[in-house]
Amino acid sequence: MKIVNTVSEMQAIANNLKKSGKKIVCVPTMGYFHEGHLSLMRLAKNYGDIVITTLFVNPTQFGPNEDFNRYPRDFQRDSELANSVDVDFLFAPSVEEMYPDGYYTKVIVDKFTNIFEGKKRPGHFDGVATVVAKLFNATKPDVAIFGQKDFQQTFVVKQLIKDLLFDIKIVVAPIVRESDGLAMSSRNVYLSASERKIAPEIYKALSKAVDSIKDGVRDRKVINSIVIEYLRKFPQFYLDYVSAVNAENFDEPKEFKSGDNVVILVAVYLGTTRLIDNMIVTVP
Ligand code: PAJ
Repeated sequence: MKIVNTVSEMQAIANNLKKSGKKIVCVPTMGYFHEGHLSLMRLAKNYGDIVITTLFVNPTQFGPNEDFNRYPRDFQRDSELANSVDVDFLFAPSVEEMYPDGYYTKVIVDKFTNIFEGKKRPGHFDGVATVVAKLFNATKPDVAIFGQKDFQQTFVVKQLIKDLLFDIKIVVAPIVRESDGLAMSSRNVYLSASERKIAPEIYKALSKAVDSIKDGVRDRKVINSIVIEYLRKFPQFYLDYVSAVNAENFDEPKEFKSGDNVVILVAVYLGTTRLIDNMIVTVP
């Protein structure tokens, strides 16, 4: 695995790869790898010849009171892990390399960005869309892999690809969980031992709501209240939002219909740590 730190070198490598007919697959990340990230890198191999993982903690997608400064970082460990899953290039630019003086352009996607994560984290998706566009122009991929863990992000990225005519196929990979159900996240390291113990209750709450849908519940508010009531039993959770929505378009109908794909979205605070999770189910 080769480590690349500059945009110009990354672009020269990508150009040469393309000239020799190689198909490039990109896995954008902010590092501090866990099995969820590694599953994306492994999956990437199935979609092309060369895997480029990007590792960049992107300041523009963090709000002023968010965790940019304390976001976990361990480059040595990350590069060893990426190497262990056969990543070909690890693109790890500095902030100055990605946002040099004289940078004045940002990408604003106007759909899917003002609800849920976008509403709670103003400007977050502008930062994501901007950095993803830049990472694509640096790595020139044919395919890019994103995780369902950040469900709304996958919609924003797909909209960006479509609207800006990026000739890139987007693949969405399933959520990887700890054995107790907690969705893997770089932010899980923030949890205290007691918080870590109750964190899997998010998974259990989601599972309960999915089971209720499988058992015939279709009323959206009833589905939401199953998650809410369950999580309220644990006073350590502060619920940021809980909502079952149509997984194709984020619609919130009074009742779902047979055949609808429903995604139940959850964002909670556990102490000062904000966790998101989701589960998709087809209405029988
Ligand atoms: P990051 O949070 O590092 O996540 C990188 C990729 O890993 C994302 O596509 C995310 O959905 C996926 N991922 C995270 N946890 C996962 C899990 N438990 N199972 C499966 N996939 C998981 O998402 C970002 O970085 C950034 O917003 C980025 C797209 C890199 C732009 O800065």
